[in-house]
Amino acid sequence: MLRSLWQQHGLFTKQGDKGLLLVPPPTLVSAFIAEQERYQVELAAICADGEQLNQQAADFARFTMASLLATNQYLNFRQRDIRRLERMMRSLLLELADLCQQGKVTPDRLTQVFNQQALKVSQWLLKSNGLHAFQLEGDQVLVRRVPCAEYDASFQLELLQIELADLREPVLDIGCGAQALLVNALRERGIDAYGLERLDQEENPFIYAANWLDFHFVPDKWGTIISNMAFSNHFWHHHIRKDGDYASYAQKYMEILRSLQVGGSFIYAPGLPFVEDILTDSGDDYTVIRRPLDPFPFAQEETEELHGSRWYAVSVRRNR
Ligand SMILES: C[S@@+](CC[C@H](N)C(=O)[O-])C[C@H]1O[C@@H](n2cnc3c(N)ncnc32)[C@H](O)[C@@H]1O
Repeated sequence: MLRSLWQQHGLFTKQGDKGLLLVPPPTLVSAFIAEQERYQVELAAICADGEQLNQQAADFARFTMASLLATNQYLNFRQRDIRRLERMMRSLLLELADLCQQGKVTPDRLTQVFNQQALKVSQWLLKSNGLHAFQLEGDQVLVRRVPCAEYDASFQLELLQIELADLREPVLDIGCGAQALLVNALRERGIDAYGLERLDQEENPFIYAANWLDFHFVPDKWGTIISNMAFSNHFWHHHIRKDGDYASYAQKYMEILRSLQVGGSFIYAPGLPFVEDILTDSGDDYTVIRRPLDPFPFAQEETEELHGSRWYAVSVRRNR
């Protein structure tokens, strides 16, 4: 199936630990040629049905974004970027169907089509994310690797110094990870917990699948909002990046605080001193409590490089 061709080979080439080269893997063309007749029939059926075409294009876009996000967690795709990528994938499918129908499939022609697509998607990536993720590798460009980890629930609770007995419900874990480890652990203990995550995962009625910048945080709703190494870490990234979208993060941060019930708390790490100081100085709507990380997850030398001042856990309580 075409879907698995794309899922298996993808549009870009893995380059070991370094990242993802922005050129198609050579295996993509040979795999297509090997199953050409089957793909021809499938493409004709897909392109004859608008709904199937949109679905297939959305899947191609999803796989492409998944491989990019697995390479570099600081890439960010908003709704409008996703729609653009889907349109590009739709054109690719139509072009492939057309080539097949005209009997013009050759390795050279396919290489040309996939190279053009890789170039278009690279331009889309540059437009949606700027230069921060790109790196030169000889005469080629790659998306550099910035991996992302998930932590077990007890580690997160300990690090953020959360006592289960004090948790106000409902609980929302922002950037809960594909495995939603904390959400599942809280639910197993009978706590009304939900997650918000952009990565693909099994259908789960307790997880909102969305980009947190596109998600609407309903006012006065949550008893506790948690975010370990997720929202605030990305806020930092945008705060220190030259072309960072720190304004969207600042607005979302305030929207998150307003979505707490009065008496509810937003608990996260790393800290955001540049925002918390403003909160503390602007009245008593919120109380900020900072706690040293325990266990401390880095060697001392590492923290200097990693902006030493942010490695603490925070609880911001809404007072009114
Ligand atoms: C370092 S992981 C931490 C996961 C989890 N909180 C934990 O401690 O195990 C950061 C998570 O935030 C998610 N994330 C990053 N940017 C996001 C965004 N804009 N919208 C939704 N989730 C996002 C990532 O997909 C990833 O699962």
